[in-house]
Amino acid sequence: MPVPRPIDWTPTRAVRILDQTLLPDTERYLDLDTVDAVAEAIRTLRVRGAPLIGIAAAMGLTLVSREGPATLEAVCAASRTLGATRPTAVNLRWALERMERRAADAAAAGDDLVPALRAEATAIWDEDRAMCERIGRFGAELIGGDALVLTHCNAGALATGGIGTALAPVYALHDAGRRVAVVADETRPLLQGSRLTAWELSRAGVPVTVIADGMAASRLRLGDVTCVIVGADRIAANGDVANKIGTYGVALAARAHGVPFYVAAPSSTVDPATPDGARIPIEERAAWEVAGWRGHQAAPAEAQVWNPAFDVTPAALVTAIITDRGVFAPRDVAGAG
Ligand code: MRU
Repeated sequence: MPVPRPIDWTPTRAVRILDQTLLPDTERYLDLDTVDAVAEAIRTLRVRGAPLIGIAAAMGLTLVSREGPATLEAVCAASRTLGATRPTAVNLRWALERMERRAADAAAAGDDLVPALRAEATAIWDEDRAMCERIGRFGAELIGGDALVLTHCNAGALATGGIGTALAPVYALHDAGRRVAVVADETRPLLQGSRLTAWELSRAGVPVTVIADGMAASRLRLGDVTCVIVGADRIAANGDVANKIGTYGVALAARAHGVPFYVAAPSSTVDPATPDGARIPIEERAAWEVAGWRGHQAAPAEAQVWNPAFDVTPAALVTAIITDRGVFAPRDVAGAG
């Protein structure tokens, strides 16, 4: 499956990312060789998607040695910088905690920290790729045949270390020769659906129809959508799901029209320490993202703006959660974490 690779090591072991803010018109790779550059790339969504920001932060932490001795204190300080970039996706914290534990073990053994950190970052990436494959297999089994899948935001290859989460069952069905197509919500304000999901699906040869977010309910009423599949940034212990703003509305519309609403996520997105969705921190982003688009004013300067980047879909609206450990009822999902 020709899915894009949004992250890589450079030959000199810096971090190479595909700058997702420029897609779909420009495909530009950036080589990042400081922790601060990786933090900036995560904060500005050059690299984005819950699993991928965990991988990027883990890889970014290895750059600590470029600015001084890679002591455990320096690693922990860099981890705090990377961890402060985005609050909602738990994968970021999960990956950085793994990296800090690995650094502490290496320090206790008197080993050089950098090779240990590189090995752990590569393991996090490899494991995510494998988790995506398993989500694809479980999701394809659940859907079971030809399908029209509606999705919101981008939870595909551009958001992970592999074939994605919400899009993994789509790719698996496509590979198996099934007729599968996607309806992609454009996903205002930053258009991850139209810019990114439609881009990667088109490159993979999967038919995709882009709709404005406000069209999703009407499309679900038409009756031709097999199921909704979305990704997640954090799944609370009770099965409440934080994902890109607008997901909750899609879940309500899916329930109203009797369409199954699936969430696909790796076990690294399940946060048993957060009891319910009300405790998930929701990132609020800058006003210009809503009030303008690439330098053009889209609202009067006097207007106030509210710009939460994520919302919480209550577990009661989720039909099932597709993870790398199997398909769970939302109330049982803590078992996957
Ligand atoms: O702000 P973004 O683009 O990082 O938001 C991404 C999403 O909300 C995705 O749906 C989620 O991270 C799952 S990615 C597999």
